Amino acid sequence: MTSLSAPVPPVPHDVPRGSIAWLRASVARFSNGPDHVRRRALAVDLLAPVDPDSLREKAFRRTHRIVSGLDVVDVMVELARPVPVGVLAEALGLPDVSADVVPVAAAYHPHVEPDPAAEAALTRLIAVCGGPTELAAARIGLLVQACDATAGLIGNELFAALTGKPAGQPVLATRRRIDGEDVTVSLAGTPFGAGPRACPGSRHARALAAGVLEALHGFRLTETEPSWVSSPNLRMPSVLPVTRGRTAPAVC
Ligand code: HEM
Repeated sequence: MTSLSAPVPPVPHDVPRGSIAWLRASVARFSNGPDHVRRRALAVDLLAPVDPDSLREKAFRRTHRIVSGLDVVDVMVELARPVPVGVLAEALGLPDVSADVVPVAAAYHPHVEPDPAAEAALTRLIAVCGGPTELAAARIGLLVQACDATAGLIGNELFAALTGKPAGQPVLATRRRIDGEDVTVSLAGTPFGAGPRACPGSRHARALAAGVLEALHGFRLTETEPSWVSSPNLRMPSVLPVTRGRTAPAVC
């Protein structure tokens, strides 16, 4: 068994229904055994009818609309999360819930203590999805999984395209329980994971990222340095301001 095929560290199940802890306890990402198989199938089935080409086209159009009125845009805040999440939500039959998905995504991982704003955002997402069922958790889980990871893909690819440096992979490591111990497992060389828990949204993520990036042709980095997310497991900009024009302005 490769380390990525090992179980994930289990999360508590005796938790308030509808809370962030309930979301973790209800999605494939933090489940093992038959729960993982059933919940992963829900996620895969929800994604199956979603056409990547259509996501790409819609992400392009949405990005183009947002940037057409702006001279400077922070890609990470204004585009890289709201556009892919909004487009994917629509494809899953939901309204644009990206403003609520962003805080839930920030509180999703078990080492994070959820704040009241994230809990309130999840309450609204659950209401939009018809109540706290396993299917609702699967839909919300797709949007949450898409949120930061796809933003990382966009940020890294754009930074690489604009600087000529190689694009880093956004998710560098994950967690597994091996021989009774919770360990960090590298994802180097497998940006979308591998084995029975490999990312089921990789084609969709690439299409969404491609649509956003196509709409940013002709933009360049501003003078402001990008800043990077300070997490050992993530490599992605936290701020990436860009402006129109391929070349830096002449210095007088
Ligand atoms: C449309 C966008 C995306 C969707 C819907 C999505 C969905 C998911 C879901 C549902 C899982 C859990 C699978 C399971 O536990 O069986 C997952 C896992 C994963 N995703 Fe994605 N994802 C997206 C984008 C990305 C991106 C952009 C990356 C990184 C480049 C990424 C990397 C991963 C990795 C590494 C895992 C496995 C984690 C592990 O093995 O512990 N995903 N994704």
